[in-house]
Amino acid sequence: MSFDESKWVWMNGRVIPWQNATTHVSAHALHYGSGVFEGMRCYETSDGPAIFRLDAHLERLYASAEIHGITIPYSREELTNAVEEIVRVNNFRSCYVRPICYLGSGSLGVHPGDNPVEVVILAWPWAPYLGAEGLKQGVRVTVSPWRKFESRMMPTTAKACGQYLNSMLAVRDAVSRGYAEALLLDAEGHLAEGSGENLFIVRDGQLLTNDERHSILLGITREAVLRIASDLGYRIDVRALDLEDMLTADEAFFTGTAAEVTPIREVDGTAIGKRTPGLVTEEIQRVFFAATSGSDQRYKDWLHPIDAEVVVVSDRLLQVS
Ligand SMILES: Cc1ncc(COP(=O)(O)O)c(C=O)c1O
Repeated sequence: MSFDESKWVWMNGRVIPWQNATTHVSAHALHYGSGVFEGMRCYETSDGPAIFRLDAHLERLYASAEIHGITIPYSREELTNAVEEIVRVNNFRSCYVRPICYLGSGSLGVHPGDNPVEVVILAWPWAPYLGAEGLKQGVRVTVSPWRKFESRMMPTTAKACGQYLNSMLAVRDAVSRGYAEALLLDAEGHLAEGSGENLFIVRDGQLLTNDERHSILLGITREAVLRIASDLGYRIDVRALDLEDMLTADEAFFTGTAAEVTPIREVDGTAIGKRTPGLVTEEIQRVFFAATSGSDQRYKDWLHPIDAEVVVVSDRLLQVS
């Protein structure tokens, strides 16, 4: 994938050309990973583009920032407007949106002192993270030799930049061995999550998933899927999951903003169910996409419409640095 450099970026309150959205090499975040970010999707709906669960993502962004002592110098309303603006000026019908708040240049002591907080919002079209084929047919995963860090080491419920080195080790290992994704165990050896997704198991018509006690990021897609599954009448058990649960599952799937609802068809060569997406997974996936496309009225509140008709005559557009 390469980025389209004709697009615009929201950076510190201004909309600027893609190639001008740069930061100095002395930025604290570059050295120590001191930033927090979000990933959300904008979906095409019959009423135009809409961000899925914008409020929940912004809420988690501020919560992650607070945990890491990063004061975001913009209000929620300002960031809401900024997200809308960046989708609109780039003329996206659907895209992925990545706000990031990080410590910029100042001191390079590990204690960041009063380094400035930089706030950037990028957007780009992003195909299904684990592949269109994976979304349809399911993916093959492997148990990672890398454990998921636990909250006593770093809070797992925050979405912070530096922690993704753990995910990166896991996914690079998995891909190098021919798998689509890694499955990380927690420090105690229970299942945690994928390198960028939460995990669900289906057994005897019941849904099983874990929670923050097992070092996961509390995914916004996970929460949406819990609501969908409950609306569909499934029993849900939130508890510790073991590899044994996974290997004997009828079905399993990942959830995440990037990966959406992706079936898992194999773990280290062991088939999950019939090595094809199961009926429960397919039903949940169908309702999930009905929610993201705005065609299921029950979940309309999850969509934040972008008014494509607004003509942006913001002076910010002219402030090309
Ligand atoms: C480690 C990790 N777990 C789970 C998720 C899923 O979270 P969400 O559904 O909020 O995107 C993500 C993606 O953000 C992630 O990076």
